[in-house]
Amino acid sequence: MNNKQSWIDQRFPLTRVINEHLAEYYTPRNFNFWYFFGGLAVVMLIMQLVTGIFLTMHYKPDAEYAFASVEYIMRDVEWGWFIRYMHSTGASAFFVIIYLHMMRALLYGSYKGPRELIWILGMVLYILLLAEAFMGYVLPWGQMSFWGAQVIISLFGSVPIVGPDLLVWILGDYAVGDSTLNRFFSLHVVVIPLILVVLVFLHIVALHHVGSNNPDGIEIKKNKDADGIPKDGIPFHPYFTIKDSVVVVGFLWIFCAVVFYAPALNGYFLEAPNFIEANPLKTPEHIAPLWYLTPYYSVLRAIPPLFGSQFPGVLAMFAALGVFFLLPWLDRSPVKSIRYRSPIYKWILGIFVVSFIILGWLGVQPVTPLYALLARIFTTLYFAFFILMPWFSTLGKTKEVPERVTE
Ligand code: HEM
Repeated sequence: MNNKQSWIDQRFPLTRVINEHLAEYYTPRNFNFWYFFGGLAVVMLIMQLVTGIFLTMHYKPDAEYAFASVEYIMRDVEWGWFIRYMHSTGASAFFVIIYLHMMRALLYGSYKGPRELIWILGMVLYILLLAEAFMGYVLPWGQMSFWGAQVIISLFGSVPIVGPDLLVWILGDYAVGDSTLNRFFSLHVVVIPLILVVLVFLHIVALHHVGSNNPDGIEIKKNKDADGIPKDGIPFHPYFTIKDSVVVVGFLWIFCAVVFYAPALNGYFLEAPNFIEANPLKTPEHIAPLWYLTPYYSVLRAIPPLFGSQFPGVLAMFAALGVFFLLPWLDRSPVKSIRYRSPIYKWILGIFVVSFIILGWLGVQPVTPLYALLARIFTTLYFAFFILMPWFSTLGKTKEVPERVTE
């Protein structure tokens, strides 16, 4: 230890923190592909914060100038197009990573005890990320920004009794307009990012307290050597810091390819009508949110109105999100990892994942009688997964979980 370090260490637990969370944080040695996405999510959060700061230097949160200021960023600000596309493509990349990160938790039962709180913090992060992305999409004040906001915010008007007042409270006006844009700007740029950073910190504190799960779903802390080090653990630094850096570089290659060659990804990352300035007098032909919101949009559209009110659909949409919180208590399987679960569980999880993807696809399609029927079928399968889980998670024969992790 050199003098400088000891001077700091006398006043701040730097070496202790580095040791506890990096050099002596023992991580299961059998991590696989699915374990890259937490680190990548941190990289994406930083990228969104940094590119967002540069965009804010040139963007104008004013219904009169917002669209023109984005055009100015794209055409006149040096490297402005690059920063804007990193941010807009970054939003979609972030969700690709988050969905894979959540899928890992489903595969290896990472939400089960003692990691319930990591999961709950993750779910709050996920919902805030959806809100953050939705509000960000409103800021360029294109046709989809305006009409997407119109459709989604008007849903709150369907809440019984308080709906109309709630709507005005959210809008800050009687219609989507300048005050809505201003408050979305402040929430998108200051409030939600701050909460996200704090929650990610807590998410990782909780993770380091209980230790990481792994593809075998074995608690490595239960099997320690004479020095108290888990036999199946290796220090996070340097082993995983090196491995994760290689993954980050590989990811950036793919990310740059999309940013340079297909930043709008055929309308999936930025919809064509959003390159036209918002016009409150002209509704786009087909209004749909971006892909990461569409599974829930499909659930909303699948539920028929009751006495002309869309409230049942709105409730179902929020229930579709909220029910994820209960997962740690709905899953009663004696094993964590998919590797040792019964074949019946594997099939049911497969059906759920396919239903979620199909709901997402249906959400970008116009409503036709066939698609409406499909949306109802897959919404039923979606909810059946959670409602029936306490029952089917105990069905069938599980495989014996080994003592030590497998390669
Ligand atoms: C900004 C968003 C997020 C960030 C930056 C983040 C970051 C991380 C990191 C760095 C890890 C450890 C590395 C790893 O296991 O991959 C982790 C683990 C975990 N995360 Fe997240 N996360 C985020 C969102 C979520 C969401 C949305 C969920 C689920 C709803 C979630 C659930 C979990 C779980 C259950 C673990 C423990 C996994 C295990 O040990 O097997 N996280 N997260």
